[in-house]
Amino acid sequence: MKILALHGINLDMLGKRDPTQYGTLTLAEIDAQLGRLARELGVTLETCQTNHEGILCERIHQACADGTDGVLINAGAWTHYSYGIRDALAILTVPVVEVHLSNIHAREAFRHQSVLAEVCLGQIAGFGADSYLLALRAAVSAAESRQAAG
Ligand code: DQA
Repeated sequence: MKILALHGINLDMLGKRDPTQYGTLTLAEIDAQLGRLARELGVTLETCQTNHEGILCERIHQACADGTDGVLINAGAWTHYSYGIRDALAILTVPVVEVHLSNIHAREAFRHQSVLAEVCLGQIAGFGADSYLLALRAAVSAAESRQAAG
């Protein structure tokens, strides 16, 4: 089983960004934690970070055809306004789990809306780096159920 973890705009700056919202781990450290959990769960994990919306859309398009079984996405600020990323995710038929380190619903009003949520299976927000680990478990479980259902 192959899971793709997508990190969007400004997430390469984790470790330097507001630690009260995002913690002190770098993205490389989060990816390493995800990698360890993926090995434990017996799945292959690929990760991708970009600050370019078109590149993220193209990576999502690629996931439609490269055997990806599930997707985790923290789109950063794009979460709140990118219909381009939303439309790309809507093309996928595999489970997509939306992830946020911070609880976007307990922050500024503009963060309360996710234009991606409607095309995702679910959203995990507010647990810091653990949000990613919970999301990986959720994506693997959903992908297994989907495969079992044929
Ligand atoms: C974030 C929340 C977004 O509102 C913000 O723009 C981010 C990170 C999070 O993980 O909590 O870049 O997606």
